[in-house]
Amino acid sequence: MKKIIILSGAGISAESGISTYRDSGGLWEKYSIEEVASIDGYKRNPQLVLEFYNERRKQYKNTQPNLAHRLCHELEGRYEVVVITQNVDNLHEKAGSTNIIHLHGECDKACSSYNPNDSRYIVELTDDHPDIHIGDKAGDGSQLRPYIVWFGEAVPKMEDAIDAVQDADIFIIIGTSLNVYPAAGLVSYVPKSAKVFIIDPNDINLRVGTQITHIKKKATEGMKELVELLEKQKTE
Ligand code: OAD
Repeated sequence: MKKIIILSGAGISAESGISTYRDSGGLWEKYSIEEVASIDGYKRNPQLVLEFYNERRKQYKNTQPNLAHRLCHELEGRYEVVVITQNVDNLHEKAGSTNIIHLHGECDKACSSYNPNDSRYIVELTDDHPDIHIGDKAGDGSQLRPYIVWFGEAVPKMEDAIDAVQDADIFIIIGTSLNVYPAAGLVSYVPKSAKVFIIDPNDINLRVGTQITHIKKKATEGMKELVELLEKQKTE
């Protein structure tokens, strides 16, 4: 089976009602990245950061995947699919995708402040305990924190992501401005033989050593068009 690698960003969840980060009206217009999404910000004011993610988690809980997430899942019938997402929502999971790499963490999980990536202390937040408060402890006795990769922290899932990208027959980029590294650097690992597609209503500045097809539409319309295109190319 051919291998499809999908790199998704906030734009795929926009039609589900979740704000992107850098568009006009996006989250980073209302909040300061340094204050709520960096490790230094967390050290300065943990309460503010916990509240920011408690709020996000509440919003994600009532949000449903859209057709673009569902089509990412449906491709699994015909291709080997890996979804690499920068999103901290769980809409790819809710849509049924089975092979997901969360580069920037997952908002519905919590972890240790001493070692966020120690899997022994990563826990799911449940309906009984949906929020994280100051004083909540991880299994190692440290303050519990959101399982999110903040600016200023390493991105431990990059190696898995690079391995997947290097094997791509088809590489699909959906709804990411490619502003944030190292995630944006994944495109440099796409094999020259791969077909590359971008689905994004706006211009994206991307150069790879292969031809790119830009479907300049929102995620749901764009994914519909791409699935039809792939079907057509398969039968040609
Ligand atoms: P951005 O907000 O930077 O980019 C969103 C992209 O989605 C832009 O290219 C938009 O044009 C596009 N877009 C908007 N609406 C869309 C729609 N309906 N369909 C398809 N595309 C649409 O978000 P990301 O690139 O995901 O990290 O941001 C990357 C990282 O920066 C995030 O994971 C987050 C943020 O800071 C952390 O907080 C660590």
